[in-house]
Amino acid sequence: MRRITSAAELAALSKDAGIFVIAPARAYVVESEREVSHAVREAAGDGLSVTPRGGGTSIPTQSVGSGAILVQARASIRLTQDTVVCEPGVVKADLNRELSKWGRWMPVDPSSYASCTVGGMVANNSSGARTLKYGSTADSLAGARVVLADGRALALGPATEEALSGDPLTRKAASLILENQKEISEDAPRATKNSSGYRLEKVRRGSFLDLQKLFAGSEGTLGVITEATLKTRLRPKWRALFVAESTLHELDAAVAAFRTLAPSALELVDKSVFRSAGRWERVSRLSRSDDPFMIFCELDGDDGGLEEEAAGAVGGLDPLLLTDEGDISAAWEARNETLTFAQDMVKGGRRPVPGVEDLAVPPGALGDLVELLVGQFERRGLEYILYGHAGDANLHARPLLDLSEPSEAKVNEGLMEDCFEEVWKMGGSMTGEHGDGMLRAKYVPRQYPRTYHLMEELKAMFDPKVVMNPGVKIART
Ligand code: MLT
Ligand code: ZN
Repeated sequence: MRRITSAAELAALSKDAGIFVIAPARAYVVESEREVSHAVREAAGDGLSVTPRGGGTSIPTQSVGSGAILVQARASIRLTQDTVVCEPGVVKADLNRELSKWGRWMPVDPSSYASCTVGGMVANNSSGARTLKYGSTADSLAGARVVLADGRALALGPATEEALSGDPLTRKAASLILENQKEISEDAPRATKNSSGYRLEKVRRGSFLDLQKLFAGSEGTLGVITEATLKTRLRPKWRALFVAESTLHELDAAVAAFRTLAPSALELVDKSVFRSAGRWERVSRLSRSDDPFMIFCELDGDDGGLEEEAAGAVGGLDPLLLTDEGDISAAWEARNETLTFAQDMVKGGRRPVPGVEDLAVPPGALGDLVELLVGQFERRGLEYILYGHAGDANLHARPLLDLSEPSEAKVNEGLMEDCFEEVWKMGGSMTGEHGDGMLRAKYVPRQYPRTYHLMEELKAMFDPKVVMNPGVKIART
């Protein structure tokens, strides 16, 4: 275990991909689960909070804090027939490389896959373009080991209620969730993607309880992930990518047509980001019109020939069809760098900022979401970027604002307030994939009017002294 106290090293840990900068009191680089327990106990004993940190790619600020930052260096990968057991420091791109040697795949690839870690992906229930077909990290999470706020290590995996009865904490947590199934399912957003609150609705599976799923998306507030067992699948034999262009008005119809193909990904790409960031060459080959948006529709499968049939079905949209793996990968690389490029779009002190950057609504309401966002931006005279996961009706919209100006920070607050309110009325979530973090923690009680109290109770069970990541997700405790 290495304990970091030098100001220079701590400064590097005071920021993630979010907007808040908080200097930690100390940091630990830990090499084993035993060291995690030791570090958590030591920090808590010194009156410090503990914030686990992966690749530091969190957008709503989940991985900075004023207490102790915990960086897990271990990154071993152990394959079984259809799972992979990962230590938390495994970078997703490295996992992909390892699995592809065996023709296998863990299909959740956030656009930050080159630097995000498996520990962070579990803690955030990360998702990405292919969640549309393959689900989010929670759906792949077969088991986990965690270290709790008191330093105790716990193994979590599918278990019957009786099997949990030996441990008072997990039994209590399981009972609370089982007793409130009706409220939990009625209060869950109806969007196909959701990263707000705890994943209570995923815990019960028939006669099994998957308590590991409670930790998926808990954002470091219930404990530290020290190992994750993820399901893997065979890589599909082929994939093809349609690229169409669209105006904002034609978007809904185009997305509806592509959805009929049951795609593995259906993405909205904002051409203006590439132009403004001076990276137009990355997508220029794919563009044949002045329409502001591109739609990427990826199909994958094991039987041949499907893409030609599909081309017929969406012929009216006149899409390009890419079948060469190199061309498809290049297109995806450009898409995945949208956020990185967007950060370069500084206009004066203004840059694209998060807040309403991850709204998700029920399928079929994408057009309403676009209308809402554009209306809210235009009403305030704001420039904006807008792209995201069209197939899941989950949009990454960011206004250009200078948050160091108090008046502009207030505009962002107003946007969040107004957009979240409307999205809740639509049955959606204020965050489809990025999580609550510190940025949205104060809104979580309103996202879950009937079940937030259950989340508070669970937090109090697992972390009664509020050691783990205070201010994130459960803000009141
Ligand atoms: C993405 O889809 O690229 C990521 O979720 C990051 C983002 O753009 O907000
Ligand atoms: Zn995304």
